[in-house]
Amino acid sequence: MTDLTTLHVSQHPAVLHKLAVLRDEDTEPKKFREVVRELSWLLGYEALEDAKTRPLQIRTPMEEMEASELGERIGLVPILRAGLGMVDAMLELMPTAQVWHLGLFRDERTLRPVEYYNKLPDSASVDLCLILDPMLATGGSATAAIDVLKRWGAVQPVRIKLINLIAAPEGVAAVQAAHPDVEIHCAALDRGLNEKGYIMPGLGDAGDRQFGTGTTD
Ligand code: PRP
Ligand code: URA
Repeated sequence: MTDLTTLHVSQHPAVLHKLAVLRDEDTEPKKFREVVRELSWLLGYEALEDAKTRPLQIRTPMEEMEASELGERIGLVPILRAGLGMVDAMLELMPTAQVWHLGLFRDERTLRPVEYYNKLPDSASVDLCLILDPMLATGGSATAAIDVLKRWGAVQPVRIKLINLIAAPEGVAAVQAAHPDVEIHCAALDRGLNEKGYIMPGLGDAGDRQFGTGTTD
């Protein structure tokens, strides 16, 4: 049974509609990238729901008023490769966010994550870290990414959120067991993993489908 305390699965009709396009095996890389971007925007919007704002004095053509601006220092952490497709949409929503790339790939034999790139800045001067990765399968990559962020200094009061397009219950359980403080936002919670660690029904390999490489056979 999946613990729903830190898991947010979007129920928005626009998200459901776009997910069908994303999953369809006939969706070509160009369209796939477009839909990854659109879904990221919608999930980012939902994930920012509790972000703090601060007052901003502005003048409309009519008069002065107190408006609001995002009051959090946000770090976007796309997991290479597949998380790259989520960055532009997030930057549209949060134009002042910094982007810290983290390279992790899943060893096909062991399914364990291997870190190969890390572009975190020297100090953790941030309020909110958003980890971007379309797929949460075994949870190995997400757990490793959160470990890296926490070792680096992203600990309370810094918040970490994980944004995935599709999650498997196994991955959610792994992240919740290792990091119960991390909120997970996704567009779908699928049935489970197959014997090769792919999400079912899923969408195949998110990196390959975005960048036109390989097959899932
Ligand atoms: C995919 C995906 C996640 C990981 C999820 O990346 O983008 O990072 O697998 O699997 P896990 O939850 O079992 O760790 P992959 O390793 O295929 O690398 P890629 O993005 O370079 O294709
Ligand atoms: N990574 C993917 O890209 N897809 C899966 O189904 C599992 C891991």
